[in-house]
Amino acid sequence: MDYSRAVKIGLFLAIISLEEVIASKKPNIILIVGDDEGWNDFGFHGSSQIPTPNIDALAYNGVILDKFYTQQTCTPSRAALLTGVYPFRYGFQGTPINAGENRSLPFNIPTMAEQLKKLGYSTHLVGKWHLGAAYKKVTPTRRGFDSHFGYWAGFVGYFDYMASSEFTDTTNYTGLDLHHNFEPLWKYQGQYATDLFTKRSLNIIDKHNKDEPLFLLLAHLAAHTGKDGTELGVPNITEANEKYKYIDRKERRQYAEVVKKMDDSIGEIVQKLSDRKMLENSIIIFFSDNGAQTEGMYQNFASGWPLRGLKFTLFEGGVRGSCVAYSPLFEKQGYVNKELMHITDWLPTLYHAAGGNVSKLGKIDGINQWDVISRNISTNRSEILLNIDEVVNHSGVLGYNGRYKLINGTYKQGIYDSYFGDSGRNGNGPEYDFQAVLNSPTHVAIQKLASKIQIDKQSITRTKKQVDRSSCRDKSYTPKISCHEFCLFDIDQDPCETKNVIGDGDKLDIVNVLKNKLEGYYQVLTPQLNMKVDINSDPARFNDTWSTWLDYEEHKFGIRNVLQYLYESLVYT
Ligand SMILES: *[C@@H]1O[C@H](CO)[C@@H](O)[C@H](O)[C@H]1NC(C)=O
Ligand SMILES: *[C@@H]1O[C@H](CO)[C@@H](O)[C@H](O)[C@H]1NC(C)=O
Ligand SMILES: *[C@@H]1O[C@H](CO)[C@@H](O)[C@H](O)[C@H]1NC(C)=O
Ligand SMILES: *[C@@H]1O[C@H](CO)[C@@H](O)[C@H](O)[C@H]1NC(C)=O
Ligand SMILES: *[C@@H]1O[C@H](CO)[C@@H](O)[C@H](O)[C@H]1NC(C)=O
Ligand SMILES: *[C@@H]1O[C@H](CO)[C@@H](O)[C@H](O)[C@H]1NC(C)=O
Ligand SMILES: *[C@@H]1O[C@H](CO)[C@@H](O)[C@H](O)[C@H]1NC(C)=O
Ligand SMILES: *[C@@H]1O[C@H](CO)[C@@H](O)[C@H](O)[C@H]1NC(C)=O
Ligand SMILES: *[C@@H]1O[C@H](CO)[C@@H](O)[C@H](O)[C@H]1NC(C)=O
Repeated sequence: MDYSRAVKIGLFLAIISLEEVIASKKPNIILIVGDDEGWNDFGFHGSSQIPTPNIDALAYNGVILDKFYTQQTCTPSRAALLTGVYPFRYGFQGTPINAGENRSLPFNIPTMAEQLKKLGYSTHLVGKWHLGAAYKKVTPTRRGFDSHFGYWAGFVGYFDYMASSEFTDTTNYTGLDLHHNFEPLWKYQGQYATDLFTKRSLNIIDKHNKDEPLFLLLAHLAAHTGKDGTELGVPNITEANEKYKYIDRKERRQYAEVVKKMDDSIGEIVQKLSDRKMLENSIIIFFSDNGAQTEGMYQNFASGWPLRGLKFTLFEGGVRGSCVAYSPLFEKQGYVNKELMHITDWLPTLYHAAGGNVSKLGKIDGINQWDVISRNISTNRSEILLNIDEVVNHSGVLGYNGRYKLINGTYKQGIYDSYFGDSGRNGNGPEYDFQAVLNSPTHVAIQKLASKIQIDKQSITRTKKQVDRSSCRDKSYTPKISCHEFCLFDIDQDPCETKNVIGDGDKLDIVNVLKNKLEGYYQVLTPQLNMKVDINSDPARFNDTWSTWLDYEEHKFGIRNVLQYLYESLVYT
């Protein structure tokens, strides 16, 4: 054998083994979570009011999870996502954590970040945490994340990053809640939150050492209300008003821009993954943490049309999530998955995708759905405990492979139980913009990969039809159903929950089975641990920033705290 031939063979072998190394590399996991968006606020669900070409491109190139359920509000959803365990098992089923409230995820339940860290991931949280901050040890960087850039509370102002908490009827505690790990960040005040969180995410991807797998959780502030719980933060209100003038309510025009900016963010992230050649080995997931808050507290003018109910409720409008997943590693791409899934399933699913052995996760409620999503096979999940809130007396379970939903009681006398939100189908708005999807940075980046699938106007139209529920109830008909006691809905036949079929003679067995299940869950419930806002948490004591105040309290007379106190007295007074 001559020398050059040997070199060629050697090179060939080197390339093969390099390919093997690449093939066995753990996938990057990019999990993007929106806040309080409704079913009707994404183009792929049928309304053209709000342009979401990047999210839509993920949907058409990837998988739409059509029967994906979340919890009813922020804290329970994020707890379920990060632990894979139903929140009612550890007292997290009720009212979200207030800033200044001493409550946090139990230490005996590992977080997704902790589990992925064990598999060698570098782990980053950008944006919202909302799972406690009384002590350093309960914050993201002590619960598995290498870094956190964002806020600890439920929401902040889109430009000033101030979070407020009601201490008494007449006093609110207010302070800066933008932190890099524990450092308060005053210098970014004035920058728009969605842009800031995007910039930070791009920076993480840019600097990422590709020898390690990346777990990035980007939990956007969009589209929760911001400052004072009312702000619909957009960079330019005049422009938003002009751009969406076909939308009746001016607040929803601003809301539309908030969502559009979040969609732009996703485009930039996918493009960056592509630029760094990380996209070919990534899993990208997007969903909203719960349904729309069209009216009421923190009203954001989102729309869950035509579904019933808002955030806080267990109706489809509260818990049926808008969820898309894209990965070139999926065996099947560009389809609608109709299998039952729950937000707790992401932990085992992603752990499995990361090469972990799911049985090491111990007893959790989530199940590994990797093959279900990747190959469109039948799921093993046949039911979901939607929630039990033993304070407001409101619970629900979804059984029979997601077909039947039993609801027991209602949230606050049913104020959010009706039908809300703009249909976006009054004929004033634009047509669906197919070209915007095909031109989106997300679509363009995905189409550069070898595993791409063909997408055009016809295939998009076919996909949209499969998830369109716009005819599930008569527009002029708004049934008044009270679920003060039990209600049963046939979700497959009646996804808009217009008919309570609990009284139908042939449903007796179903009702009894579901009641038994619910009762079984009641037996193992941990009562809610909600506490009052702690008087010592007042940001006024910490240069107007939210801090891990109980670390300070418990070491008040320690030398470090005394020095810090003296320093602050000198500097801030
Ligand atoms: C805060 O919560 C922790 C954990 O439940 C508890 O040990 C501690 O006593 C609480 N402290 C205050 C001041 O509430
Ligand atoms: C406290 O903040 C809430 C909004 O979060 C607001 O409705 C209320 O009026 C504020 N109260 C005071 C006393 O400023
Ligand atoms: C907002 O946009 C309008 C119209 O494009 C422009 O005239 C105005 O200067 C902008 N305002 C700000 C604060 O940028
Ligand atoms: C996963 O772990 C379980 C229990 O530890 C073990 O029985 C099983 O063989 C493991 N599976 C693989 C594929 O390693
Ligand atoms: C996915 O599975 C469902 C149920 O088996 C089937 O009806 C559908 O055609 C499948 N879709 C694809 C793209 O395989
Ligand atoms: C469902 O469970 C069975 C038995 O544990 C298992 O063999 C099968 O792979 C599971 N199916 C899926 C889609 O995970
Ligand atoms: C919930 O039920 C319990 C026990 O039946 C009762 O004491 C409590 O007042 C109820 N709460 C509400 C908000 O109705
Ligand atoms: C229904 O809710 C009430 C509380 O309002 C509770 O006492 C009862 O046990 C629940 N029933 C079932 C079947 O879960
Ligand atoms: C204290 O707060 C002010 C803004 O009110 C800020 O400019 C300053 O940097 C803060 N000081 C420290 C030490 O964080």
